[in-house]
Amino acid sequence: MTIAFFDSGIGGITVLSEAVKQLPQENFLYFADTLHVPYGTKSKDQVMEYVLDAADRIVREEVQALVIACNTATSIAAAELRKIYSIPIIGMEPAVKPAVEMNRNSGKRVLVFATPLTLSQSKYNELVARVDDHGSVDSLPLPELVGYCENLNFDRTEIADYFWGKLAGIDLNAYGTVVLGCTHYPFYKEILRELLPGHIEIIDGSRGTVSRLRNVLCLKDVGGGEGQGRIQFMCSSDDPAYIVKMEKAFDIFNRLQN
Ligand code: DGL
Repeated sequence: MTIAFFDSGIGGITVLSEAVKQLPQENFLYFADTLHVPYGTKSKDQVMEYVLDAADRIVREEVQALVIACNTATSIAAAELRKIYSIPIIGMEPAVKPAVEMNRNSGKRVLVFATPLTLSQSKYNELVARVDDHGSVDSLPLPELVGYCENLNFDRTEIADYFWGKLAGIDLNAYGTVVLGCTHYPFYKEILRELLPGHIEIIDGSRGTVSRLRNVLCLKDVGGGEGQGRIQFMCSSDDPAYIVKMEKAFDIFNRLQN
């Protein structure tokens, strides 16, 4: 079985890494839409067109499922893709529901980091309206972080300065959980961990997404798959240098996890 993962760029590698951990014997195809990254600052119509084109190319590789490892692409195009394709399409959304649950008794608030496009969509606003019965969810767009990540910029001082600029004026003690609602952001979880007060939990949707993938495909635990744990990287610009970058990003993220 080959399972495709798709993102605008290298962000979805944070989800792929979790999938490889949980399903080491499946085969994976990772596709980045390098011609159009970033998505989060573009219009809904543009991103819809990009995602449909990318999906068309991915399904030609005869994959058995598609994980949209991108919150932005999911909010714009997941429903449309499900109308077009019969293979399972697994999307992602910011982990607002578990975050609200985690803080139900503490009275602390939830801060969601995501792209401007994700945060402006009705899908996100309906999700918050559905699960946030105490009005405890705030959101902060961090579009520049996608650019840092695409440049493999993990310079602690520069990134910390960026976060401090964005978080200036926010009373962090009021928050119990920060939700990383863009798949690029977990590359910066360690840096954020050093900046945020110790009581704040930082969560993302990777584990939940891979659990859903396993359930949808009825995949078994470690050792149950039929593949060899192969990962093939592809990108819309067919740029060999970007393939090398994706392999490097995969290694960097795995190192951060250990
Ligand atoms: N990684 C993406 C997400 O989860 C999109 C980032 C972008 O292209 O702006 O939202």
